[in-house]
Amino acid sequence: MDPISNATLPQSNRETVLQIHGPALLEAEVRANLPIGVVEWIHGSAADEVTMKLNVERLREHLFHPKRLAGFSSVDTSVTIFGRRVAAPMFVCPMGAQDIVHADAEIASATGAQKSGIPYVLTSASNRSIEEVAKATPGAFHIFALYSNQDSGIDRDLLTRAREAEFVATMITVDTLGPGESEAYRAMGSPHSPVAGYGNFDPRRGGRGTFQNMRKDLKPADVERVKRDSKLPLLVKGILRPDDALRALAAGADGVVVSNHGGRSLDGAPAAIDALPAIVDAVGDKGLVWFDSGVRRGTDVVRAIALGASVVGVGRPVLDALALGGASGVASLLQWFRNDVATAMLLVGIPRITELTPDILSR
Ligand SMILES: Cc1cc2nc3c(=O)[nH]c(=O)nc-3n(C[C@H](O)[C@H](O)[C@H](O)COP(=O)(O)O)c2cc1C
Repeated sequence: MDPISNATLPQSNRETVLQIHGPALLEAEVRANLPIGVVEWIHGSAADEVTMKLNVERLREHLFHPKRLAGFSSVDTSVTIFGRRVAAPMFVCPMGAQDIVHADAEIASATGAQKSGIPYVLTSASNRSIEEVAKATPGAFHIFALYSNQDSGIDRDLLTRAREAEFVATMITVDTLGPGESEAYRAMGSPHSPVAGYGNFDPRRGGRGTFQNMRKDLKPADVERVKRDSKLPLLVKGILRPDDALRALAAGADGVVVSNHGGRSLDGAPAAIDALPAIVDAVGDKGLVWFDSGVRRGTDVVRAIALGASVVGVGRPVLDALALGGASGVASLLQWFRNDVATAMLLVGIPRITELTPDILSR
């Protein structure tokens, strides 16, 4: 493949409501209409991409045993997260460098999430800064996801800025210790330069340091430090083992996000859904268990919740919607997801989120 330079990379600036007909057609539209570099950035993953595919396949292997004659016709998908009522038990996953996907980058995806009443997780690897996103979406439910820097002063600045911008909670991502892009993306010459435009680190936008200086020797003391410096509820993202979940909680985390980073970290890691039940068992009522990786429709949200997750993250489909429709596209997708969760619950025969239990599934 010929390397594509940054300068020639066409950026989407579409702003349109989307008719969503499911994740496969959405992805097909992205593949047909967006430059190959954008497609590969969104849909590529590490090495042989085994884990990325497993995430989706293993979720779908969980079959439903629907309850019939259940006597209801309306479904309540709303839940309370950190004291705030939200439309559905979902969050938009932290996803970096969104200006490769759309000219309005994280401003557009955060606006789409706000319009649909879904919490939005802004990564420290965003192109737009914490303050820019907060200003564009006043009063929205935002969570800040930190990639810890080798300079803990930089972490402290970022966490303080997120708290001052009224973010509701913090995540620390602990599974990104190597490159996240796919081999095909690197073979194209990594058309999105990772040194350009990370808004949170730009001194003109209140930042300092460099995003590249990520800490690789993370340990429980870093969880303690981030909890202390953020002064907000803290979730540790990228957990696949019960013992690690317990170590995170013992270090002061309020919960974990069971995730393998959508296969962009260690290829050959198990599907995140396969790691979930043992972590839920180990954590019990000691903390929160959130989930992402492989979620493509409402039935996947219902599956993860039935297996014990309390909130479920949507990743790549949000970037597809962002590329095709900007903020309105993201809102279209998240409203479709919400409706799809409600439809799944009606079909499964469960009227409320709290009543989803593992006995509705088998494998
Ligand atoms: C393009 C892209 C960028 C990502 N950037 C981040 C990031 O900056 N921080 C983070 O914690 N996770 C990041 N992730 C991982 C997501 O938060 C999430 O774990 C993953 O997308 C779930 O897999 P799925 O999208 O296949 O469902 C990224 C994922 C993608 C696809």
